[in-house]
Amino acid sequence: MRQPLVAGNWKMNGSRASIAELLGGLKAGIGQVTAAEVAVCAPAVYIADVQSQLDGTSIKWGGQDVSVYESGAYTGEIAGSMLADFGCHFVIIGHSERRAYHGETDEVVAQKFTAARAAGLVPILCVGETLEEREQGITEEVVGRQLDAAIKHCGIAMVGEGVIAYEPVWAIGTGKTATPEMAQAVHAFIRGRLASNDQAVADVVRVLYGGSMNPKNAAELVAQADIDGGLIGGASLKPDDFLAVCSAANS
Ligand code: PGA
Repeated sequence: MRQPLVAGNWKMNGSRASIAELLGGLKAGIGQVTAAEVAVCAPAVYIADVQSQLDGTSIKWGGQDVSVYESGAYTGEIAGSMLADFGCHFVIIGHSERRAYHGETDEVVAQKFTAARAAGLVPILCVGETLEEREQGITEEVVGRQLDAAIKHCGIAMVGEGVIAYEPVWAIGTGKTATPEMAQAVHAFIRGRLASNDQAVADVVRVLYGGSMNPKNAAELVAQADIDGGLIGGASLKPDDFLAVCSAANS
């Protein structure tokens, strides 16, 4: 059995005050979520605050990006060891916003996966097609290419130590969710691709859905055979909404 995982992706939102309030709300309600693993991925400057507020709770935390480099003259970059130094468990890798706005290629994303593992972090590797790609009927080609790049660079065993997040780009922040059937079809494809490399890895790797997941649609998404939880953007900024998604995954 794969333990469900719900990870919040706060993106570039919040302040010290709003984050303290959000975490206060999460801590107050998280006791009901006993089966699912729960994490929040914070902007880097707030990770120390998150650590001090979540230490000793069941909620884990992580970063939203990591450098491909270990250390050195890379102004503005954050190394995996630095995230680990502040207790991060997870790091999001290759989010579509980083691919689109920061030119991250499949190769760079694969290097980041390796850098995260070298620091002992669990990478959450994001894959997903744009609306144009879906309309062209090349969703599997795109997602397969993104996955294969990580498998080729890192090896299937290392990919097995991470988490995959299927996030159709057209569903992110738009309120348009993939139907459970549409999402399940791609999740099954992803698991099949992992299985063609290593069945044991395919059996244990968690594949999360992301893209306008919220308290209304979470239960039917996580009820799908190959959906093991969610990567939650907008709804992770409101404690009640995030807790409701966590509860939906809590079985
Ligand atoms: P959303 O974002 O839930 O706001 O659509 C998800 C994500 O980008 O990880």
